[in-house]
Amino acid sequence: MKHDTIAVIDFGGQYAHLIATKVRRLQVYAEIRQPEDPIEMFREYKGIIISGSPSFSAFGEDSGYTKAIYDLPIPILGFCFGHQEIAKHYGGKIVHGGKEWGHTELHVCADSPVFKGLGQTEQVWMSHFDTVTEIGPDFEEIGWSQLGQEGDVHRFAAIASDKLKRYGFQFHPEVDDTVNGEKMIRNFVLDVCACLPTWTMGNYVEEQIGRIRERVGNDSVFLLASGGIDSTVCAVLLGRALGPERLHLLHVDNGLMRKDESRAVIERFMQMGLGRNLHFVDASEDFLRALKGLIEPEKKRLAIGNTFIAVFEREAKALGIAGHLLGQGTIYPDTIETGATKRSDTIKTHHNRVPLVEEMIKQGRVIEPLAELYKVEVRELGERLGLDRDMVWKHPFPGPGLGVRLLCNSGAADTTEFERMLPEVKTAAGKFGIEAEVLPIRSVGVKADLRAYEHPVLLSADRPWEKIVEAAGTIFRDVYGINRCVWNLAGGSPRAFEPLSATVTRERLDLLREADALVMDGLRRHNVYDEIWQCPTVLVPLRIDGQGREMVIVRPIHSERAMTARPARLPDALIAELKRDILALPGVSGLGLDVTSKPPGTIEWE
Ligand code: XMP
Repeated sequence: MKHDTIAVIDFGGQYAHLIATKVRRLQVYAEIRQPEDPIEMFREYKGIIISGSPSFSAFGEDSGYTKAIYDLPIPILGFCFGHQEIAKHYGGKIVHGGKEWGHTELHVCADSPVFKGLGQTEQVWMSHFDTVTEIGPDFEEIGWSQLGQEGDVHRFAAIASDKLKRYGFQFHPEVDDTVNGEKMIRNFVLDVCACLPTWTMGNYVEEQIGRIRERVGNDSVFLLASGGIDSTVCAVLLGRALGPERLHLLHVDNGLMRKDESRAVIERFMQMGLGRNLHFVDASEDFLRALKGLIEPEKKRLAIGNTFIAVFEREAKALGIAGHLLGQGTIYPDTIETGATKRSDTIKTHHNRVPLVEEMIKQGRVIEPLAELYKVEVRELGERLGLDRDMVWKHPFPGPGLGVRLLCNSGAADTTEFERMLPEVKTAAGKFGIEAEVLPIRSVGVKADLRAYEHPVLLSADRPWEKIVEAAGTIFRDVYGINRCVWNLAGGSPRAFEPLSATVTRERLDLLREADALVMDGLRRHNVYDEIWQCPTVLVPLRIDGQGREMVIVRPIHSERAMTARPARLPDALIAELKRDILALPGVSGLGLDVTSKPPGTIEWE
């Protein structure tokens, strides 16, 4: 290994990625490893961190993973489940019970290199059911926890063996709620493991350029360039490594782009000096044909992914460059099997991993120079490569584009559970003086890591945004089968919702493009574009109180990594403009603001 590297053993996707991100912020490279990876894969690391786990318990039956890591002369640190595993392995005891959840105080009770520079009491974040009750002979307790002065004392919240270089924290230092969590990780990585902080973006650019040249040899690369941050950074990096002659860019207008986006993408690539082998194809007809009649979201995704590849192969042949490597701007979370996706339902299929691409990867025909990076690192790389600020901080846009923001329907109302749900929803919303109706369609959400197609609720009231968000939280808690709440911005209290038969058509896409352009333009003019992480605009084929054909829903969110999200508040003046302009679009039956967090709703509606 060229740089000192930390392995993060992934017992739970979100935790593991957070830990790796925090280590990398120290300019030390971190890689995610799977629990069952063979011991040979661990030997070269300077340290190992065992993540927490939403589903594993260190209590009782043996949780299968490569335990030979404990025989390696490498420091090991465990969080939560990892902490319990370390305690158990070296002769300690774990019991069910002693649950702690949320903020609590850690009382540091012994000097330890992992707590260097910290106070005697630290705010930490806990989420556990099992507890360490005894530790082995080589270990000492270095911290205990207590919620306020009255709370129960929880022993062994942090344990250490300086002799063995094994450390365990019952809490999660990787989450921001553990105020000095980053310092603790720094102490382990830089002091205990003695890692050198050499993994800088400057070094990364130089190394990648070398690696790309070596990998591509005398070949050329053909890159699908959607114009998003990932493919744009990828293009600039490949261009630096290979020169514009050996980089062919193909921008496909799949008909699912934002308004005027393709034109802007082409202009941008020209300005960046990558116009030499820039190819453009308007394949919107191919995509519309492939999507014809489809209603089910995953079928639409697969059709879009496969059409991309079919168009790519056709164009590559037509341009006489079919033998080139395929470049993709795939990033780290998409390239590894994480605990979250491997051990549970696949929440959504990402189109850069459709079977045809998998096949090309097996044949060694794909190059993915960003495959080691997280989004935030791709942005940092973009800045270093001199990309415009606007480009670097552009909102993420899903590969299948507006295709997953244009809901389709057979025209049948889905109301089987309404008899139970409606009174429950009305009671929950009524507590806040809000009128509520359940919509007879479904959208995708995520509950306990599983995909859930459930009903949205429309909330009508002239109340402050905070009250609407609070009411939404109460509905999610009290009513089974609801995963979204939408605030009605169209005024009045609509009662009749009739789903219309609708599939993907150019007319519907054009309408969505208009509404989306009004939203995007509004975010920029009201100076909130940068603080909002993403803002999908969605079209739902609903006639409301006998009027119109399409309900428009705006979904502004705050997020860090898209794994979780909070609804974002829009300025009142912007909301007033959206009401005026979107409701005036032809065929629009209503306008809603999605106030759902993730979970229970996903960011996209399907
Ligand atoms: P969800 O809807 O799962 O979205 O909360 C999380 C993030 O992923 C994006 N997304 C996709 N990106 N192909 C993509 O390339 C997809 O099929 C896809 N589905 C969702 C979404 O826009 C959000 O940023």
